[in-house]
Amino acid sequence: MTLNSTLTSATLGNDWLYENSLKIILENQAGTGAFIASPNFGQYHYSWFRDGAFIALALSDTGRPETIEASRRFHEWVNNIIQRYRPLAQGAIARVKAGEPLNPVTDILHCRYTVDGEPSQEDWTPFQIDGFGTWLFALAEHYKGLDPAMASRELAQFSDSICLLVDYLGALWLVPNFDCWEEHGDKLATSTLAALSGGLGRVAELAAYLPGDTALAAAAATATNLAAEIKAYILNHGTATDPQTGQLYLTKFCGDSAAGELRGAVDANLLWAAIPYGLWPVEHPLSQATVERIIKDLVAGGKLDGSGGVHRYSRDTYFGGGEWILLTAWLAVVRLAGGDRAGANALLGWIERQAQPDGSLPEQTFEHLNQPDMLNHWTQLWGEVASPLVWSHASYVTLINRLKITG
Ligand code: BGC
Repeated sequence: MTLNSTLTSATLGNDWLYENSLKIILENQAGTGAFIASPNFGQYHYSWFRDGAFIALALSDTGRPETIEASRRFHEWVNNIIQRYRPLAQGAIARVKAGEPLNPVTDILHCRYTVDGEPSQEDWTPFQIDGFGTWLFALAEHYKGLDPAMASRELAQFSDSICLLVDYLGALWLVPNFDCWEEHGDKLATSTLAALSGGLGRVAELAAYLPGDTALAAAAATATNLAAEIKAYILNHGTATDPQTGQLYLTKFCGDSAAGELRGAVDANLLWAAIPYGLWPVEHPLSQATVERIIKDLVAGGKLDGSGGVHRYSRDTYFGGGEWILLTAWLAVVRLAGGDRAGANALLGWIERQAQPDGSLPEQTFEHLNQPDMLNHWTQLWGEVASPLVWSHASYVTLINRLKITG
């Protein structure tokens, strides 16, 4: 797909990079509506619910006819996948309710597919449930600004999938599964729970477009309760007190599942609990303490002066554990919402300096590596780091959109 002439220029940041980002995003959407994660990296020639939902958020937020349409087509693709694998989801729900164990490959809805909806045949970690929460959230965001009559018409086809996901997530949310970095399948990641609470908390808004749909209304009531229960669980199990400041902050994992060096650690994916999911607003002390801790532990030099981006977590060794474009963009979005426009702009400047000459934004960059010797390891295993990473471009687009709104 190519951009058409109705696209207008962004007014902030690097206009060309913004337009090029939208172009890259749309070029990497298949006819089925799926987005591949990256065209230049074998392992990422798939579509993840997580990446796609964040991409759809950026596209809906951009508000141009072709980006709204691209977002709608992604939602349609997700709906088709959920319908296609409905029996798997129902089987998983039944197993969990019967107290039987789940096989984390054969008994669950996978997190990534080919653009035609086939689960990949490679050895992977398909049990990652955060993407379903992010999808519900992105779906609600998509219809928020659109004509309610159109929303009702289009959402009618999604009702069964939404109800099924509410049941699925309601049954599985306490089952350990791989986090958004596809690691630690034996733990409960706080950011996964934040995604679930954030997404389930928006189901009532979706149900309101379909007032006669009693099944969806019942699912919405369940989802609202679940969202509150999960949020309370995070507060009780996914927080720690900073010994220096005495403040409560969110931790990478919940409860005792995080032993040793992981105990009390933060992860930059916790930014999403504030924005986009809105569990605690940016001004809330819990969000503020979490963000401060992320800056201290995961930004080189601990300062937002544009000299570095954001690491995923301090022990990350994937491609050496560099700084991620998408997380840097989300930190900027959070800082902007908290009134720190200078910090947001410094991070924006850093992101724009990471763009390759052809306008591609990579997944991560290598100036400040957590563990430099691991870069070679991963490069030999899988080749050069993914670039462009479509999710990086989407996060950059989200940041520019937010800067424009508040500009
Ligand atoms: C990241 C995932 C992402 C995938 C595709 C992985 O390296 O950890 O969050 O979904 O790449 O972009």
